[in-house]
Amino acid sequence: MKAPTILETAKALVAGDKGLLAMDESTPTCNRRFAALGIPQTDDVRRAYREMIVTTPNLGQCISGAILYDQTIHQETKAGIPFVKVLIDAGIIPGIKVDAGAKDLAGHEGEQVTEGLDGLRERLAQYAQMGARFAKWRAVIAVGDGIPSRGCIEANAQALARYAALCQEAGLVPVVEPEVLMDGDHTLARCAQITEEVLRAVFEQLYLQQVALEGMLLKPNMVAPGLACGTPATVVEVADATVRCLLRAVPAAVPGIAFLSGGQSSELASARLNAMNVRFKTRVPWALAFSFARAIQQPAMEIWRGEEANVPAAQQALFHRADCNRAARRGEYTAAMENT
Ligand code: 13P
Repeated sequence: MKAPTILETAKALVAGDKGLLAMDESTPTCNRRFAALGIPQTDDVRRAYREMIVTTPNLGQCISGAILYDQTIHQETKAGIPFVKVLIDAGIIPGIKVDAGAKDLAGHEGEQVTEGLDGLRERLAQYAQMGARFAKWRAVIAVGDGIPSRGCIEANAQALARYAALCQEAGLVPVVEPEVLMDGDHTLARCAQITEEVLRAVFEQLYLQQVALEGMLLKPNMVAPGLACGTPATVVEVADATVRCLLRAVPAAVPGIAFLSGGQSSELASARLNAMNVRFKTRVPWALAFSFARAIQQPAMEIWRGEEANVPAAQQALFHRADCNRAARRGEYTAAMENT
C-alpha cells in the first residue's frame, strides 16, 4: 500500500469529529503532575500510566492521533506490544514531540525560545521509520510587563518554521504550536492582540521557509484572559475572540486548528471548543479541533493514582473526556454530558 502523503495525513488528523490526544509530557513535566497527586515518579510508573492511556477501550472512536514523547515511543505494554502498534491497531495515528524544550532567551529576561533544531533531520527520519506520521514543536510566549518582545516572537516563529520545513521533508505533518501562556493578569483583549501578532509572525516565517500550509496543522491557544485577570470572560466571548483572531491571521489553506488546553479546566475547554463550532463551524475554512493534554488526561490521572486496580475507572474517565471533546467538535457538547 502506498504511504499516505502529508496532505492526506493532515486531513485525516482533523477529519470528522475526532481530535488529537497529547501524551507527550517530558519526564520532568510528567513527574511534576505525578508529584502533585502523590504518584511515585519512576520510569515504570510513567510507563504504566501511558499503557493505561493507549489501551483505553474504544479510544479510536474519538482520537485520530496521539502525540508521544521520545521515551514513550520506544516503550511497550506489559504484554510486550509496542505502544506504536497498540495505537495503530486502535486506528490512532502515532505522532511525536520533537522539540527539546523552552530555554531562557539570552538578553530577554522572562522570555524563552524553544530549542531542538540540531540533529533534527536525523531524528525525524528515525521517528518516521518507527511509525510516526506527524510531529509537534511547542513555542511558549509569556505575557507580562513589556513582554512578549519582538525578539522573542521572531526567534520562536523562525524555529517553528525551520522545524516544520524539516518535518515535511521527512514526510511528517508538522503540528505548529505557538502557545501564548495563560499565566498572568492580562485581559482577553491583550491575549487577542498578542496571539494575532504571534500567529502573523509564524505564518510569515512558514512562508519564508516554504512550508506547504495544506500539509500542516496549527495548535494555538484559545484567546482568553490570563488566569489571574480580574475580569472573567464568558464562554461565548472566548469563542468569538478566538475565531476572530484566527480569521485575521491563519490562511484558509491550513486544514485544521487543534487547540491546546493550556491549564483551563476540562469542562471549560470542551465548552469553549463547542461554542466555537456552534457559532462558526459552517463559516470557517479550517476544522476547529482539539489537541489537549491536561483537559483530556487530568481526571483520569486523578482516578488512576498509580494503582492497577483503578485502571478501568481511569480509562472510563479518559474516554469520557475524549467523547465530550468529540461532541464539542460537532457543536453538540452540553453540561449534561458531564453527569452521565
Ligand atoms: P495542554 O492541553 O495541557 O495545554 O497540553 C497541550 C500540549 O501539547 C502542550 O504542548
